[in-house]
Amino acid sequence: MNDQAANLRRHFDKTAKSNRTKTISIISGKGGVGKSNIALNFSLELIKNDKKVLLFDLDVGMGNIDILLGLHAKRTIIDMFQEQISIHDIIETGPNGLSYIAGGSGLNHFFTMNSREQAYFFEQYYSLMKLYDYIIFDIGAGATADSLFFVLASNECIVVTTPEPTSITDAYGMIKHVLHEQPDMPIRVIMNRSISQMDGTKSLERLQQVVFRFLQIEIEMMGIIPDDANVSHAVRRQVPFVLLNDKTAVSKAMKQLTINYLSGANSGNKITPVSFVQRLKQLLTARGNG
Ligand SMILES: Nc1ncnc2c1ncn2[C@@H]1O[C@H](COP(=O)(O)OP(=O)(O)OP(=O)(O)O)[C@@H](O)[C@H]1O
Ligand SMILES: [Mg+2]
Repeated sequence: MNDQAANLRRHFDKTAKSNRTKTISIISGKGGVGKSNIALNFSLELIKNDKKVLLFDLDVGMGNIDILLGLHAKRTIIDMFQEQISIHDIIETGPNGLSYIAGGSGLNHFFTMNSREQAYFFEQYYSLMKLYDYIIFDIGAGATADSLFFVLASNECIVVTTPEPTSITDAYGMIKHVLHEQPDMPIRVIMNRSISQMDGTKSLERLQQVVFRFLQIEIEMMGIIPDDANVSHAVRRQVPFVLLNDKTAVSKAMKQLTINYLSGANSGNKITPVSFVQRLKQLLTARGNG
């Protein structure tokens, strides 16, 4: 991991330890798999569970949390540097008390900060610590080398994929890259747009097995989200789907996934399909004895 990311991670780790603010990056390999919708609706569900959440749109090209909310942010992170204003002044308020920082073009400057700007960012970032339980980064499609600093610096990553082979292959590539740079990164996977619970579970298990087999790392199954026309409907209405209707399949899945996440229900069984025997077999095969 390069120096800049290591530096950022030290800050994030320090703040996570001292103030219990957890920084989570929502990432994917392939674009358009549902990261922004999941980041937004997961944030809203965390809020429903009495957590304080800041959603930080790190999409360098075209930030879209704004669009999903049907709001228009007055300021972005660039203004914080250019006008030397406090980070609190660029935080916008969305529905249900959601705090968010809008993305947008020009964000790439943020990723090439000089040391003075970095120091200013950290000072501002620290001031958020007592206010939030979770800071969630929505990373844009095809994370650039720059936005990867933020991913690698996060306390954990949530990888979003769909069951399509191309999406799974790209998710694997992303996981491999993150783990290569940051072997102790906790990784959770959400299988979005699953046609059925069984289809989602099978796809997730396959991905877990491939990651375990080739990288010897256990990733956690975070949840399965159904393919549901209510997502597209909510996007067009510019209202987050959990707020538009909390009885739809997708809203119920998001609610359950958040409850499981908060209860740590999945942490004990990181990789269900890989039993002791399977693991032993894999190790033997790897050593050429199998
Ligand atoms: N569970 C789902 N069911 C049905 N459609 C979905 C679902 N999740 C996402 N979509 C569709 O995919 C579109 C893209 O979603 P979203 O913008 O959240 O993806 P993204 O991964 O953030 O994209 P990008 O990589 O461009 O940032 C949505 O507008 C919606 O039409
Ligand atoms: Mg997005």
